[in-house]
Amino acid sequence: MRPLRIGIAGLGTVGAALIRILTEDGDAIARKLGRRLIVSAVSARSRSRDRGVDISPFKWFDDPVALARSGEIDLYVELIGGEDGPALASVTAALENGCPVVTANKALLARHGVALAAAAEAAHAQLGFEAAVAGGIPVIKTLREGLGSAAITRVYGIMNGTCNYILTRMGNEGIGFEECLKDAQTLGYAEADPTFDVEGFDTAHKLAILASLCFETEISADQVLVEGISRITQADIKVAADLGYKIKLLGMARKVENGIEQRVHPTLVRKSSAIAGVDGVLNAVALETNHVQELLLAGPGAGGEATAASVLSDILDIARGTQVPPLGVPSSELKPCERAPMRIHEGGYYIRLNARDVPGALAAIATRMGEGNISLESVIQRPDLRASEPGVEEETSRTVVLITHETIESAVREALERIARDGFIVGQPQLIRIEEF
Ligand SMILES: NC(=O)c1ccc[n+]([C@@H]2O[C@H](COP(=O)([O-])OP(=O)(O)OC[C@H]3O[C@@H](n4cnc5c(N)ncnc54)[C@H](OP(=O)(O)O)[C@@H]3O)[C@@H](O)[C@H]2O)c1
Repeated sequence: MRPLRIGIAGLGTVGAALIRILTEDGDAIARKLGRRLIVSAVSARSRSRDRGVDISPFKWFDDPVALARSGEIDLYVELIGGEDGPALASVTAALENGCPVVTANKALLARHGVALAAAAEAAHAQLGFEAAVAGGIPVIKTLREGLGSAAITRVYGIMNGTCNYILTRMGNEGIGFEECLKDAQTLGYAEADPTFDVEGFDTAHKLAILASLCFETEISADQVLVEGISRITQADIKVAADLGYKIKLLGMARKVENGIEQRVHPTLVRKSSAIAGVDGVLNAVALETNHVQELLLAGPGAGGEATAASVLSDILDIARGTQVPPLGVPSSELKPCERAPMRIHEGGYYIRLNARDVPGALAAIATRMGEGNISLESVIQRPDLRASEPGVEEETSRTVVLITHETIESAVREALERIARDGFIVGQPQLIRIEEF
């Protein structure tokens, strides 16, 4: 069989790692596949930058769109990044030309995934994006091909290594969010502008892609409830630990009566749960299904080599001639994603507030909870746990932590509004959802 000619656009962390693996494992790949994979052309911004790999044997294109359209390749690999710009233009051009595409670009997929899947189907060309969700973990293939007809009832996971690293260190070493973030930046786990990671948007993109595959709905990243980890304090981590919980940034999606619930937020999970054991930069995705029950896939969620390995797995599938609709079912079969309202979400809640040290404060808080039919599993009082936090105003107060039984979100929010109006609390209450697995 003649070799498969690959064009790679983007020679950064992932692109350079892919070239290294293709070079080092070339013979092993050819044995498995019965044909050779060759890189025939590449594109990046700078032709002269040292990338630790020799790109001199490959034809150079200044413009990735020209590479995608060239007709000189059998497969186009997009590793540039970004939801629009050259990534979108070149992937669209390749598919219009009937050229299969592999990409690791979650932002592109989250925004244009349905249109790109439709373009791929129309051109009878494959579109692979295993590396776009949870880096080295083969979750897309598992969802598309590995579960037979099993219906997914819930998907959840830790899909951002930066956040998991920060929360793990806060838990293990008793240090604050800012200090952990600085270390993550020094170690290269976090970007100079970490907003996209720590405020949960990166996880939301990945969750939206997974939810589409799980529930046969259009990808709707703008329907995801997103709350990040920057408001999590040492006080929360410590109290949660005393109560038998860890705090993790989870992305979760499930089908409920009124639509699809897609949410990304810090979550209290029991220390004994499998997901609580996924620490550091590791990622994990859990799939709850009717036939297979629960499946937990854990591993490296990022890094050049792990991500390039996922890109390569898509390349191998395409080289073998595997044909699957990119989003699991033909794009014309995808239903709109109806957002289930969070105000009727039912679950347990961790509430931390600071009550003024005056008679009747705790009783007033308990009364407001009772009026909202919110049943409390535990109430803990501590000296002011915020005292060690920077920028906290001087006022005598006591930290009160309430753990609720399962209740409706709107009831909790209304009770907190009434409590604030009563004037017995200082500062903003902290509200963290609890999830049982
Ligand atoms: N890094 C990871 O661990 C990881 C994990 C999962 C998914 N991903 C995804 O993989 C993709 C690549 O990530 P990365 O970390 O490898 O990015 P990166 O290191 O920033 O590399 C981006 C590459 O794109 C090239 N590029 C930028 N604009 C271009 C243009 N207009 N024309 C041609 N080339 C252009 C850059 O060229 P120059 O080098 O010449 O500047 C660079 O080689 C992204 O979609 C990312 O979300 C990455």
